[in-house]
Amino acid sequence: MIHSLSDPLSGTPRGRTREKTPVGILISGRGSNMRALVDACEAADYPASVRLILSNDPAAPGLAWAAEQGLPTAVIDHRAFASRAAFETTLTARLMAAGVEFICLAGFMRLLTAGFVQMWRDRLLNIHPSLLPAYKGLNTHARALAAGEREHGCSVHFVVPEMDAGPIIGQASVPVLPDDTPETLAERVLTQEHKLYPACLAAVLAGHRTLEAARAAGAPHTAQLGPPG
Ligand code: GRF
Repeated sequence: MIHSLSDPLSGTPRGRTREKTPVGILISGRGSNMRALVDACEAADYPASVRLILSNDPAAPGLAWAAEQGLPTAVIDHRAFASRAAFETTLTARLMAAGVEFICLAGFMRLLTAGFVQMWRDRLLNIHPSLLPAYKGLNTHARALAAGEREHGCSVHFVVPEMDAGPIIGQASVPVLPDDTPETLAERVLTQEHKLYPACLAAVLAGHRTLEAARAAGAPHTAQLGPPG
């Protein structure tokens, strides 16, 4: 498993159990990637634990699911704030109060300011449903189909101020089939997202992917990361 490989930086021997990093997962909707991360964190030897599920939307279905599981949840409704920065100040305060040390955006539909991104630099990941740098932004599946792509997929990347532009940690691809609709293609990609995100988080926490290294390496395929822990 990725996180039990020998760590060239710390010299941690293969197989030694490390402390789990407390992670906050930020959502705005369904939360299927959050569920994949929650599932991965349940394994004793996975390098993260879920410290907080936070949504900017009180009606997010993923929030209800997390609460049902007894996971710690919070809502910070962005509509209650006069500015993006004011919203983020409260967001950071809530995350830090919960002891969160690392953030995974999982369908979090708010753009983040450079100040927030800088504060969580190297500790802020996102998953995007395209093979970045292709198809940044919304409606990626419909756009890939309209362009006649033969291959599509998803990417996990470090977050930088520019949207969907951060260094890529891992990608997974799927074929585009002749009778695909945006919905069928999205479903095929989503299955890969649920494997890719836990694998990439584990790789980052193991020290095998840093922001600078990812920037230098370009876009490795997920096969180079191996399976999740
Ligand atoms: C996923 O496709 C993810 O890549 C994108 O938003 C969607 C969220 O889905 N950022 P879910 O809420 O994780 O089910």
